[in-house]
Formats: sequence, structure tokens, C-alpha cells
Amino acid sequence: MLLPETPDSLTLAADLLSAGKLVAFATETVYGLGADATQGQAVASIYNAKGRPSFNPLIAHFADASSAFAVVKADERATALAAAFWPGPLTLVLSRTTDCPISSLASAGLSTQAVRVPLVTDGFRALLRRFPGGIVAPSANPSGYLSPTTAEHVAAGLGEAVPLILDAGPCTAGLESAVVDLSGPDPRLLRHGALPVSSIEAVLRQPLTLDVDPAVKASPGQMTQHYAPNKPLFLGASRANADQAALVFQNATGFEDASVLEILSPSGSTIEAAANLFSALHRLDASNARSIVVSDIASEGLGAAINDRLRRAAAKRED
Ligand code: TXA
Ligand code: MG
Repeated sequence: MLLPETPDSLTLAADLLSAGKLVAFATETVYGLGADATQGQAVASIYNAKGRPSFNPLIAHFADASSAFAVVKADERATALAAAFWPGPLTLVLSRTTDCPISSLASAGLSTQAVRVPLVTDGFRALLRRFPGGIVAPSANPSGYLSPTTAEHVAAGLGEAVPLILDAGPCTAGLESAVVDLSGPDPRLLRHGALPVSSIEAVLRQPLTLDVDPAVKASPGQMTQHYAPNKPLFLGASRANADQAALVFQNATGFEDASVLEILSPSGSTIEAAANLFSALHRLDASNARSIVVSDIASEGLGAAINDRLRRAAAKRED
């Protein structure tokens, strides 16, 4: 459904988002495909709608800087950039607070969370205030397609997959936000965007380390950093020993001896499984087991993206 943004359609949008459904909305950069950041299954359904082959971490959108900085650890650099450029086309990657309410799937299991205060209509800003964990949204295009800058682009690309598209006219910037990682000592630019590097550097009063992924041209938004557990992780297991922690898709057959067992989706839904994936891995990694074994997971639906992340988690770490 494509509706012009009005008080009524905004109320409908807020109700849909609260119910765990997706709503596409306009920002100054591109249209986003939004979900309530605190609802894991809603976040998982974003990847399903986009047909994303892997779980790239998502940006959480907020009404203002103080709401954004309630869920991540902001330092002086972050507050200075926020004061200079928000609302606007700048995304900050910061460490999650220990009680960060945002689904771990939105960070793809990483300890950081991307946040931004977009330039949106007053009506949509009021809607954002109703979601203290923010609205997570990637660009509202099918995976591998151009980012949409009109509501019609969203309808043409995602159509039925989005219950509601709020039409607020064409985007003014038409280019995604610049992504700056402030989670480490050196500020790093992860993606060029609608805010020039020189403007960001002028506020930081130091140069940005350019860390733009070389694969970015072929595959926009791809990143090399990914979640990896500390314990060794083995894929394709059919049983577990008593000193092993186990991750299974739907049922425990063969894994009864595991010291800890996580079942991703007792009902067999890949959306539910995706929503649970990273929190389950974190729990298994924190257990007393020596290693983690993972049963085969079929690649239907979000299964392909789950397997992609599990393969990366199993690959030997470089450090
Ligand atoms: O302008 C925009 O940023 C649009 C509008 C809708 O806000 N959103 C957007 O989202 O372009 P998406 O998902 O297409 O791109 C998000 C970018 C990706 O390059 C992703 O890898 C990076 O931000 N990113 C998100 N969270 C991250 C994190 N925790 N660490 C590093 N990079 C992150
Ligand atoms: Mg994108």
C-alpha cells in the first residue's frame, strides 16, 4: 500500500511498526525500509523483504541526538558531529550500551551500533519519538538494486513485500549517509555519502582514516568486519559431546548431550531463527563449553543468510 504521508497514514505506520511490520519512509538521503529496532523478528523480516544474502548491520534512526545517544556510548567526537550535522546525512558507528534495547541482529552480532538522526518531516519525527530503540532501516531496495529516492521506486522494487510505503515526495540528497566509525581511537570513514569528508574532518579537527570497503562498488554496503565467537565453531555437526555447546535449527535430535543447547526456531521459521541467531551465539560463547557445534541449516528463506554468517563465524580469525 502506497499512501501520501498524512496524520492518518502516520498513525497507521506507527501501529504497523508496533505490530512488528515493515514501513518504508522518506529521509533526506534515500527511502528506508523500517522496522521497530527492538523487535528481532521485525528486523529479520527486513532481510527477508530485501532478499539480502547476508545480515549486514543496520542503521537505527532516531528523532534527536539524545535519543540516539541513550543506546550507544557517545564521546566528545560523537556529540560534536551530532551538533554540527544532525539532523542530516551522517551515520555514526558507536559501541552499544550494555543494556542497548536494539536487536542483536541489527548489529549482526557486533558490539557496535550505527545510529543516525535523519532529516525527515515533522510528522515522521513525531513517529520516531514513539520508538525509544529507534527504527532500523536499510535503503528500501531489493538487494543488489539502486537505492530508491521516490516512493514509486520503492513500490516498483519491493511492492508486496512492504505493507505500507509512506510517500513524502522525492529525497533531496538522493545519496546515502556518510558512515563514520567512532568505536575505536581513530575515526574511520566506512562509506562515502551525502556529507563531504572535508566537512566531517573540519569538525573533528583531525583526518579520517579511509576504510571504505574495496568491494563497495560491486556490492554497496558490504563490509568485511563480522561477528566471530571466541570458542571454535564447527558447522555441519550431527551430534554434540558433553563438553560442547550446540546450535540447532529446529529440533535437538542427536544433540541431547550438549552442555548447552540453543534451538533457533522450534516452529521452523527462518525469520524467527534469524532473530535469535546472534543472541544464541553470544550465550553459547559465554558458556563453559570448549567449542560450539552447529547442525546443518537448510538454505531456504533467511537460511542462506544465516549460513553465510555462520560460515564467517567459523572461519579462522586473522588476529
Ligand atoms: O542514508 C542512509 O544511510 C540510508 C537511509 C535509509 O538512512 N540507509 C542506508 O542503509 O543506506 P544501508 O543498510 O543500505 O547501509 C548501511 C551501511 C552499510 O554500509 C553497513 O555496512 C554500515 O552502514 N553499517 C551499519 N551498521 C554498522 C556497524 N555496526 N559497523 C559498521 N558498519 C555498519
Ligand atoms: Mg543500501
